[in-house]
Amino acid sequence: MTKRKHRGGRVTPSPNSPTSTLDTPERTPRLTLPRPASITPRRGAVKPGVVGLRRPVPDAIGRPPYAATGQPPATRGSNVSSPDVIARMRVAGALAAEVLLEVGAAVAPGVTTDELDAITHAAAIARDCYPSPLNYRGFPKSVCTSVNEVICHGIPDSRPLADGDIVNIDVTVYHDGVHGDTNATFFVGDVDPESQRLVRETRVAMYKGIEAVRPGGHVYDIGRAIEEHAIAQRLGVVREFIGHGIGEQFHGGLQILHYFDTRADTVLEPGMTFTIEPMITLGSPDLRVWDDGWTAVTIDGSRSAQFEHTLVVTERGAEILTVTADGGCAADLAAGA
Ligand code: MF3
Ligand code: CO
Ligand code: CO
Repeated sequence: MTKRKHRGGRVTPSPNSPTSTLDTPERTPRLTLPRPASITPRRGAVKPGVVGLRRPVPDAIGRPPYAATGQPPATRGSNVSSPDVIARMRVAGALAAEVLLEVGAAVAPGVTTDELDAITHAAAIARDCYPSPLNYRGFPKSVCTSVNEVICHGIPDSRPLADGDIVNIDVTVYHDGVHGDTNATFFVGDVDPESQRLVRETRVAMYKGIEAVRPGGHVYDIGRAIEEHAIAQRLGVVREFIGHGIGEQFHGGLQILHYFDTRADTVLEPGMTFTIEPMITLGSPDLRVWDDGWTAVTIDGSRSAQFEHTLVVTERGAEILTVTADGGCAADLAAGA
């Protein structure tokens, strides 16, 4: 059981304390009007908590090459995966989807992100999977948990989730020599309408990106579809982090931009395996990284959401690999689906 802890209550706009944004000298008394959600005062920024010890993985679990050293081998090989690799990725992808569903179900106010890490770790091991983030380039935990203005690569720590937070959980597992990588953004208790819109439209953006995949098309079709949706919704697209080739390696050679750039002119071919994982912001997508070297946050403090699937290009379009045997996934249960 977790103790319910409140880190500052819900901030309710008070007519007696207008935000400086609205506070102009000639202001007339109109403070009873509803205030745009984008300037609703929020509780404080996410701050680093205490990161616990690394969780051990039983010897019986097959490990990726970087598990011991922290250094993945140099990227190599074709962008097209063999039928054998794709078949194994189907299994790993389903296991990743199961783990994400299990961890997502545990999201609630008062639960710490380290507890989400413990659940991910145990759920991966129970499925004969190595949790791919663990010691990947030195990452200290088994999953990424990114709260509110954290864009990606948040390190699970002692911070309890608070009512009104949004949290992205990014699960990657390694099973039978291949990785499956998937994430979803979850609501913690009651979430404000503007954050709900962000999460809902980020999910739509991911699926628009996936629907843009067709053999003979180009990688830039994906970014164009995502960016067009974000622009129409007046949302920002993060540029510094992108989707990636995946298979026997966690991060392969393919680079999948989530915005339109004619330089992303790689032709899509059946058998290519990669992720689509747009990070979308309510405000500016400009980011900085905490001193921990991982946690990416928006500079303006605006919230960011993300969804991710691993997929393979088929003769007709794309097959999503990160779904359970019955075709389910966290993205389709959660938030605004
Ligand atoms: N799962 C992330 C992705 O989508 C990568 C996490 S790398 C880690 O590519 F080291 F932070 F785990
Ligand atoms: Co990924
Ligand atoms: Co991921």
